[in-house]
Amino acid sequence: MLYRIARAGFFQLDAEKAHDLAIQNFKRFNGTPLDLLYRQQLPHRPVECMGLTFRNPVGLAAGLDKNGECIEAFDAMGFGFVEVGTVTPRPQSGNDKPRLFRLVEAEGIINRMGFNNLGVDNLVENVKNSTFKCLLGINIGKNKDTPIEKGVDDYLICMDKVYEHASYIAVNISSPNTPDLRSLQYGEALDELLSALKEKQKKLENIHGKYVPLALKIAPDLSDQEIKQICQSLVKHKIDGVIATNTTLDRTLVEGMKNSNEAGGLSGRPLQTRSTEVVRLLNQELKGKLPIIGVGGIDSYVAAKEKLLSGASLVQVYSGFIYQGPSLIKDIVKNL
Ligand SMILES: Cc1cc2nc3c(=O)[nH]c(=O)nc-3n(C[C@H](O)[C@H](O)[C@H](O)COP(=O)(O)O)c2cc1C
Repeated sequence: MLYRIARAGFFQLDAEKAHDLAIQNFKRFNGTPLDLLYRQQLPHRPVECMGLTFRNPVGLAAGLDKNGECIEAFDAMGFGFVEVGTVTPRPQSGNDKPRLFRLVEAEGIINRMGFNNLGVDNLVENVKNSTFKCLLGINIGKNKDTPIEKGVDDYLICMDKVYEHASYIAVNISSPNTPDLRSLQYGEALDELLSALKEKQKKLENIHGKYVPLALKIAPDLSDQEIKQICQSLVKHKIDGVIATNTTLDRTLVEGMKNSNEAGGLSGRPLQTRSTEVVRLLNQELKGKLPIIGVGGIDSYVAAKEKLLSGASLVQVYSGFIYQGPSLIKDIVKNL
């Protein structure tokens, strides 16, 4: 109810302004009685995944708290885990505005943010200054102006810096808004990346005396054959998990709707079926060799359950959370 009123106000604003205002408020309310506006007590539904114990399987997907500025607020809402980022080695401003659009009738979002973030050092400082109980994923990417041939270096720089602060590290090679990024999902480029990440993980494990799992985040716009090849590489390199999926370039389900012709990645309800299909394909290929984190269009307990029944061990939400607010987390967790 409360969120419905807040949402009516937020939806009067330009989408990115609304987003920035929400983040500012979460920061401001943290530790004050105003955090009662979103604080929720949820039942304990622990899940073991990637060697970690999640208090429940519902996480916040990457991109909402890109700089790790309000982890406490999402912790208070009851998320089992929060994924911050995508963060890049150096700060960057992202694409020109406007770059974030609501497709209200489809409960969808199109974004072409382009990894706007304040850089990995800023994120690490924010994490160090936060106190939270949920697990924390840190999602890493490459700067736009780093040539794709040198992309691996950016992931390694970020890994070095975030390793000791993360419960797991998500490797984002699937945003459609950084030129050529998705080319890292294929063939030799993927093998080189995964092999370098795995080597770095071993080194960092020795230095910090802690094993931090690595999860690869993939796109929904892949053929069955490409998904199979990715699975082979994931198993070969002993990657700890896979996150499926990022946003889609496909507009079939939103044709003719307001904002549907905007460039960028589409998320929310129109992505639900395709991302579940990708989870199912991954599950068929991986046969439990590594866990799947399902994300894309989850807008209810039923949608979350569908991802879990299709093979996901954990789920994440972004667009559904924008449309429904913190009660979505509660609806899912309490029905599990
Ligand atoms: C505005 C916006 C920004 C996003 N930024 C990122 C990002 O920085 N890194 C990333 O891995 N995914 C990002 N995503 C993708 C989400 O994490 C998620 O994979 C996708 O939106 C599908 O989930 P949903 O349908 O619940 O939104 C972003 C999504 C949105 C809507």
